[in-house]
Amino acid sequence: EKHGIILGIETSCDDTGCAIVDTNGNILGEALNSQHLIHLNNGGIIPPIAQDLHRQNIENVVNEAYRQSGVSFKDIDAIATTIKPGLPMSLHIGTKYGKHLCRLHNKPFMPIHHMEAHALTARMHDKSIEFPFMVLLISGGHCLVAVAKDVDEFLLLGESIDDAPGEAYDKMARRMKLKNLPEYSTMSGGQAIETAARKSDNPLGFKFTTPMLFYKDCNFSMAGIKNQVFRHLVREEKENNVTADGVIPKVNNLCAAFQLCVTRHLCHRLQRGMEYAEEKGYIPQENKTLVVSGGAACNNFIAEGVQMVCDTLGYKFVRPPPKLCTDNGVMIAWNGIERWKRNIGIYKDFEHIEIEKS
Ligand code: KG4
Ligand code: ZN
Repeated sequence: EKHGIILGIETSCDDTGCAIVDTNGNILGEALNSQHLIHLNNGGIIPPIAQDLHRQNIENVVNEAYRQSGVSFKDIDAIATTIKPGLPMSLHIGTKYGKHLCRLHNKPFMPIHHMEAHALTARMHDKSIEFPFMVLLISGGHCLVAVAKDVDEFLLLGESIDDAPGEAYDKMARRMKLKNLPEYSTMSGGQAIETAARKSDNPLGFKFTTPMLFYKDCNFSMAGIKNQVFRHLVREEKENNVTADGVIPKVNNLCAAFQLCVTRHLCHRLQRGMEYAEEKGYIPQENKTLVVSGGAACNNFIAEGVQMVCDTLGYKFVRPPPKLCTDNGVMIAWNGIERWKRNIGIYKDFEHIEIEKS
């Protein structure tokens, strides 16, 4: 098998990440700068601010991963960099820096698809995962179910027609003013709602209907769930006095009901996707695997639901550790490795390669 060492760069959203990984899946060095707290205080990601922060941090992040690795640039075979999908202003910084390193050290450039990287990371951890396998990617920017047929061949079965789950969690947390409670002040919306929901004494205290139950496709939608939360929230705010922090007294129950509804919906759509894929023969009956990744895959309640779907339909359930589920440089370097081994997507001539929004 072809040996190699790849340096990977990630800047598609609000994390500046870099890692150096080898063909055996060893992480030789890694560094990450998260802009999370800054965007949390701004009430969401403002693209020019994200871009500035990437620009300020990219060099340090790369240098730190490089220093840790102890390898020298002459031993690095290629530079892999996320070029899509993501915020164009953010993608631009990583791509520019990646190309700069390639020119400086005379290395080939490997353009990487961020979602492919999320899906393939699981293979770095668990070498027994073979193509084809099912993937559920749930993050702040994405929501999709697909069949990973090969390193560079994905069949999209369904995606969200509006918000991604992480995005819905973030918006709900903001609307519920969870950040005003010190305990949640530095958490992502997803973490805050998951933590609040765990404290609920009555998760069924609010009734929600699961969207798209009668749709035959595998798409997702968060809009209906969000609207239901809004309606309950407005009523609670009117009927019960909110606390000094602006939070409703029954916030834990509302979080639990929201989370239950999102989980039901994700599980229902995933199950449809699995049944469809099997019916079409995309997934072999023996050796069925589901990989779940993306920031919202850190949610243990969602993971338990997905695990149940897997148990019922005979799938092996694989979830990378949280650090690899959220955006990071390792997954980009690993995607570079997967491509390096197969000799695909390696560009000595790379000036024409540009970022793509989607
Ligand atoms: O994958 P990621 O780091 O960035 C992209 O969106 O690509 O995911 C970040 C998202 C945020 O929206 C955050 O609220 C969500 O993942 N998230 C969670 C949890 N932890 C992070 N959502 C639900 N439950 C969690 N425990
Ligand atoms: Zn991501």
